[in-house]
Amino acid sequence: MTSPATAAAADILSVDLGARSYDIHIGSGLIERAGALMLPVMNGRRAFVVTDDNVAPLYLPRLKAALEAAGIAHAEAVLPAGEGTKDFRHLEVLLDAMLAARCERSTMVVALGGGVIGDLTGFAASVCLRGLDFVQIPTTLLAQVDSSVGGKTGINTARGKNLVGSFHQPRLVLADIGALDTLDHRQVLAGYAEVAKYGAIDDPAFFAWLEEHGPAVVAGGAEARRYAVATSCRAKARIVGADEREGGIRALLNLGHTFGHALEAEVGFTDEILHGEAVAIGMVMAFRLSARLGLAPDADAGRLARHLAAVGLPTALPGNRAWEAGRLLDHMAGDKKVKDGKVTFVLARGIGQSLLTRDVPAAALRAVLDDFVGPVRQG
Ligand code: GLY
Repeated sequence: MTSPATAAAADILSVDLGARSYDIHIGSGLIERAGALMLPVMNGRRAFVVTDDNVAPLYLPRLKAALEAAGIAHAEAVLPAGEGTKDFRHLEVLLDAMLAARCERSTMVVALGGGVIGDLTGFAASVCLRGLDFVQIPTTLLAQVDSSVGGKTGINTARGKNLVGSFHQPRLVLADIGALDTLDHRQVLAGYAEVAKYGAIDDPAFFAWLEEHGPAVVAGGAEARRYAVATSCRAKARIVGADEREGGIRALLNLGHTFGHALEAEVGFTDEILHGEAVAIGMVMAFRLSARLGLAPDADAGRLARHLAAVGLPTALPGNRAWEAGRLLDHMAGDKKVKDGKVTFVLARGIGQSLLTRDVPAAALRAVLDDFVGPVRQG
């Protein structure tokens, strides 16, 4: 197993996509150095920063100072924090602000924030003046280990999440570990679900490392966090480099997401269940289904659930509402990853041995959901 000390030198990773390749920097103090780090990938000396009203007071002054120190002129847009900002209306507001600030083809757009800001900004950059370069500066754990890497951008519509968007790779990702210090504990945990996902997909040694060091990652150990983010980004970079447009193995990154999406849809994509919490429960469901189908040992399903619970993530459906297996199945059927009417599942032969399948017997799926839903609650 790679130790944190061994990985210390490897905190600049590359996403290998030919002419669209880019680096991911992982470490502390990167926001303060952002201007100097951006200059080599810029065609000019102008930037447009997009952030939200939670992140702006914390990190925008530092980022602006860094841009100024590097001689980069900049304008900014500060949008309301929250998932509601990832919609057509705010896309229009943002594009108008970019055009009003006289963004040019050579202007570098900068997304400073979590997944909402990264996804919206990347999409705006991809359509503004037929495509501007952009830099991701993710400030949440979830954005650092998942959404800022790989070029998926987009917005939500009334018909579902992320249904309008583009593949638009950033020119650079700066994952400043220090930004996680101001992150709400529940958000840290939600991001941690995506970290554990990489171990569960195809890296049993990383999963074992997380079993030992996960509590430090969650509690705020800078070195543990840096190693966890770097290992996660390395996995994502490898998978995206092999399958940018999700024609094959990139779909493994959806481990826990088909079930998780159904849970999120059932609560109306509200804070009642955060995305990462839904992924945690969804991964446990995927492993339970794998065990029921005889693919994975029961022991591995238990091991995954025990680890997620040990760091404080939910592994069962919250008891505050009456869940119905039929409704969850309906949400799954509406998932955007359905192909020819069949849901693609990410299942596993064990920890670190995930696989894709569209051949899941309906009875087994129903039985697993029934187990999680439990007896119908009264009142
Ligand atoms: N979040 C999954 C992916 O980027 O493919």
